[in-house]
Amino acid sequence: MKALILVGGYGTRLRPLTLTVPKPIIDFANKPMIIHQIEALKSAGVTEVVLAINYQPQVMMDFLKEWEQKLGVKISCSQETEPMGTAGPLALARDILDDGQPFFVLNSDVICEFPLRDMLKFHQSHQAEGTILVTKVDDPSKYGVVVTDDSGQVERFVEKPKTFVGDKINAGIYVLEPRVLDRIELRPTSIEKETFPLIVRDKRLFAFTLPGYWMDVGQPKDYLSGLGLHLSSLREHDASQLAEGSNFVGNNIVHPTATIGKDCKIGPNVSIGIECVIADGVRISNCVLLHRVKVKNYARMADSIIGWGSSIGQWARIENKSVIGEDVHVREEIFMNGTIVLPHKEIKESQHDPGTII
Ligand code: GDD
Ligand code: MG
Repeated sequence: MKALILVGGYGTRLRPLTLTVPKPIIDFANKPMIIHQIEALKSAGVTEVVLAINYQPQVMMDFLKEWEQKLGVKISCSQETEPMGTAGPLALARDILDDGQPFFVLNSDVICEFPLRDMLKFHQSHQAEGTILVTKVDDPSKYGVVVTDDSGQVERFVEKPKTFVGDKINAGIYVLEPRVLDRIELRPTSIEKETFPLIVRDKRLFAFTLPGYWMDVGQPKDYLSGLGLHLSSLREHDASQLAEGSNFVGNNIVHPTATIGKDCKIGPNVSIGIECVIADGVRISNCVLLHRVKVKNYARMADSIIGWGSSIGQWARIENKSVIGEDVHVREEIFMNGTIVLPHKEIKESQHDPGTII
């Protein structure tokens, strides 16, 4: 079976991290986002994944070479010369995708428990032309809303509705039959706005409701809440991955190469990456530390993301959705409140009000 991942765009909402690497290879719970997806596809029987990319394809492909070997899944790239939207890339990769079998399509920024096998069974038992994974959210207006009948047949698909039509939304994961490709022209086009309504009209689009958590982790706030959901799901299904010990409260993940000092209080919902060094008495909650971050004694960090190789000085305080880019050095006793910092900076003054340091 094959799959296509819509990698697309510039990832502007996750800047400054995406100034260093493309969004899908940013770690989520100490593993690149796209690897969570490729592993799940592999366990559902996928042997070849096509990445639909229109920005920095070489960086992605170089990075994924090693994973191609490790996972035993063929990974190829279908490069667009102009952004083709969410359906155009399927027409572009048609020759690879169309092998007579259904295939998966994934938005690259979604995280969940990936019940792909169950979804495929559902798709086949309904003889659907397309099946969309759906989930309930509190604010459906940011998403594609899916209205179904009791059997799961989609009656309406409304992308980013202005008024309330329902609270079940498109989770950004589909199983499609090859004949869907006949409905897509080779031009920039939207699967949500142009392709799905056509399949709905023929009553061949179905929705499979996602058990468990779901999050579009394409912006810092959601990436952090998604981490919390992912870690509680690990607590339920694979608790051995979580950090244990007197330094920890709640659910946290710590890379085995990271070191943690004495009398720290870490958690809940913290992920500490490769070769991070945390000194003594540090307090961290709801944060992501990417690779090789150094945190000095008694620093406090909450609700923030710290980029690769950055350092946080003694007694510093970082909070309120601060996102610190790669190789940023925050001096001791600095306070940062909702501060976005571009890569390669030294921070010598406190930032009391939210803002960006460029
Ligand atoms: N290759 C390629 N080319 N990929 C693209 C392009 C493009 O021109 N434009 C967008 N993408 C990719 C994005 O990288 C992302 O993985 C996916 O298509 C969806 O685009 P987003 O920009 O993230 O859309 P969204 O989050 O506003 O809405 C989509 O996702 C929601 C779930 O998170 C829609 O599919 C909604 O219906 C859905 O609810
Ligand atoms: Mg998105």
